[in-house]
Amino acid sequence: QTASMSRRVPIESQRVDAPLTQAATFLVLTVNPGDEAARTVRSALASVSDLTKNVAFRDLNASFACTVGIGSEAWDRFIGLPKPRELHPFKEMKGAKHTAASSPGDLLFHIRSERRDLNFEFERQLMDQLGDAVAVVDETNGFRYFDVRDLLGFVDGTANPVGPAVVDSIMIAEEDTANMGGSYVVVQKYLHNLEGWKGLKIEDQESVIGRTKLENIELDDAPDGQQQSHKSLATIEQDGQEYDILRDNMPFGSPGSKEYGTYFIGYSRHLWVIEKMLERMFIGEPPGLHDRILDYSTATTGVTFFVPSATTLASLD
Ligand code: HEM
Repeated sequence: QTASMSRRVPIESQRVDAPLTQAATFLVLTVNPGDEAARTVRSALASVSDLTKNVAFRDLNASFACTVGIGSEAWDRFIGLPKPRELHPFKEMKGAKHTAASSPGDLLFHIRSERRDLNFEFERQLMDQLGDAVAVVDETNGFRYFDVRDLLGFVDGTANPVGPAVVDSIMIAEEDTANMGGSYVVVQKYLHNLEGWKGLKIEDQESVIGRTKLENIELDDAPDGQQQSHKSLATIEQDGQEYDILRDNMPFGSPGSKEYGTYFIGYSRHLWVIEKMLERMFIGEPPGLHDRILDYSTATTGVTFFVPSATTLASLD
């Protein structure tokens, strides 16, 4: 065996683990029909790292990062590499009362930094490159709300993995060697009924979420078989192991048009973990006892993407 054969090929992942910032733009696109559009998109994807450098360098303190996700149908259509094992379109999840809608999306750009203008500039240059090869499905601008609160008023993101646990929960390893260094990502755009939510007593809000509102202290799980909090329903344990995901949710909205929302974005090494969370939230655990956060939050979109390694992305040209 030669030295070069035994050397491990370095795989660089995308900046899935980039820090939570003051501002983020979530851009979901579809790719128009035709080979020409597919070619344009491949070459734009291959140069995302150059575009990132270009914008990030203009303020090195702003923690600029962009992660790119590719949808299942787009992968089949023009990526031409082994398919990530778990990748498939977002499956609509219909509970007795609430539905997690499935919506279109070939590409996701999760653009984030401390500065709205940097995000804007990146998106502008990106859209110039993509030109008429794509159509915009949704563009949402999220912002940091006080001490990382959502618009329901609760601190959102506390239970995220930290340190070495991050890579373990978000990054594909030997279970899918062709796609090592990649992650799955699911996005859902939620609109809140804030009037209804504000009608609840604080203690009732706290039991919906599973944490106290002011101090963010975790509450105990309800006994088995009873109504669980959001926190408990979103905790996935299998064979004694807990499976975490990395969430970078952001509030968005416009008081002038009475729009108040949470953009949910979850990264995971295993797509089934996020799907299990959605099942427990929408169908309920036990079935019928759904997540009461949904009585005040409507999922208007739902899309699944695969985030290839930066190495794979750069190879698409
Ligand atoms: C926890 C808000 C949707 C997964 C939490 C917490 C809040 C929150 C306030 C407690 C603090 C924390 O640990 O972050 C929201 C809002 C949502 C939403 C406002 C949309 C309306 C979702 C969805 C999923 C999810 C769709 C997964 C599919 C989780 C997980 C935790 C969590 C995994 C941590 C559970 C734990 O281990 O303690 N969420 N969430 N959330 N949420 Fe959500």
